[in-house]
Amino acid sequence: MCYNYNGDGMTILDIIDKKRLKGELTRDEIEFAINGYLNNSIKDYQMSSLLMAIVLNGMTDRETVDLTDIMIKSGDIIDLSNVDGIIVDKHSTGGVGDKVTLVFAPLLASLGIKIAKMSGKGLGHTGGTIDKLESIEGFNTKLSKEDFVNQVNNINIALVSQSENLVPADKKIYSLRDVTGTVESLPLIASSVMSKKIASGADIIIIDVTVGTGALIKNLDDARELSRLIVKIGKSYRKPTICIITNMDEPLGYAIGNALEVKEAIETLKGNGPSDLLEIVITLCSIILGAVKKISNEEAKNILFKQLNNGEAYKKFEEFVKAQGGDLKKLKVSGKFFSIKSDRNGYINKINAQKLGEIAKQIGAGRSELNDSIDYDVGLVLSKKVGDYVEKEEELLKVYLKNKDVSINDLLECYEIDDELKPMPKLIFDVIK
Ligand code: URA
Repeated sequence: MCYNYNGDGMTILDIIDKKRLKGELTRDEIEFAINGYLNNSIKDYQMSSLLMAIVLNGMTDRETVDLTDIMIKSGDIIDLSNVDGIIVDKHSTGGVGDKVTLVFAPLLASLGIKIAKMSGKGLGHTGGTIDKLESIEGFNTKLSKEDFVNQVNNINIALVSQSENLVPADKKIYSLRDVTGTVESLPLIASSVMSKKIASGADIIIIDVTVGTGALIKNLDDARELSRLIVKIGKSYRKPTICIITNMDEPLGYAIGNALEVKEAIETLKGNGPSDLLEIVITLCSIILGAVKKISNEEAKNILFKQLNNGEAYKKFEEFVKAQGGDLKKLKVSGKFFSIKSDRNGYINKINAQKLGEIAKQIGAGRSELNDSIDYDVGLVLSKKVGDYVEKEEELLKVYLKNKDVSINDLLECYEIDDELKPMPKLIFDVIK
């Protein structure tokens, strides 16, 4: 086959063909496809075809770095040079009950580290930090650029929803991937995540790569490869980038659902958090604190625990919520709730995070499409975690509802309860930098 790749003769059909035949696309070809899609000269069906060829045949590291760079340049690049000090950004590839950012950000900010973060809304069975914050009445997730920078300078922390024009190429391509079965590609995920992080302007990037039934990445080898790619992209911008690979087979902590998760984050900030959530928060924060303050990991951990137990971390959270207009006194969860009881005695060996996430979405805690509205005060609160023993008729979880119903059988099917306790899975698999 003969291709015409360069100059005026370049066509999207040639580019699709080249990737279909496992070829390596040049930067010009990737640029032609991405920019053409953004200006509508390349159609949804053509871009879907190219994306599927990438899903099946992959991309080299060079192609992935070029794709990331082209996506970054498709929109605004946030200039944080007016913020004094080292700015940290954190991201998770998604999970169920994942409220890590709500603890991580104020905890580090209470120690003088700047957190300037743009977050997305939740989609599908995983939640989004913006929805969680918006469950606090009055909380404003849309600050002007000037207010965003001023707030970070004044109180070390600001958390807003992604600006409209941040990586528009990713916005358009991600929506298409979502409905064409082309989400699950490591180079596409790495470039999607990192384009938004690099365009957001932080100095240090830390990514929680979740792996397991409740996560986008289902196996550890893929999580390691994704982390390697993410770190490589970070290095190409000279931005220290760290990935921590964490288990998302069961939900993180006990609460799933926006206001319920904020409540659990508050307890964690007051030093009373669930052990799995606490372990991930402390690991992420100690890596950052150790690097910024040039202290050992042990020293960093001691400082962080002290900050949770002496009230300083929670004080920073209150200050941050108030600065963005939120009123914590009005944080409320639905008054309509009931218990799901175990139908047998035994050890809990599995709690299916993905299925519980789907059920939480179904009762209104999440959305299927980006413009769906959600109920902030509904969700699920586990009473037991994997490894716990449960008696027949003992409570497994509470369901907080509003006007949508839920099937008790569907909930019970999320649990695997046996006579014998299976070995406990690891919570943190690896740190890659
Ligand atoms: N999160 C993103 O931002 N992009 C992906 O492709 C997957 C998860």
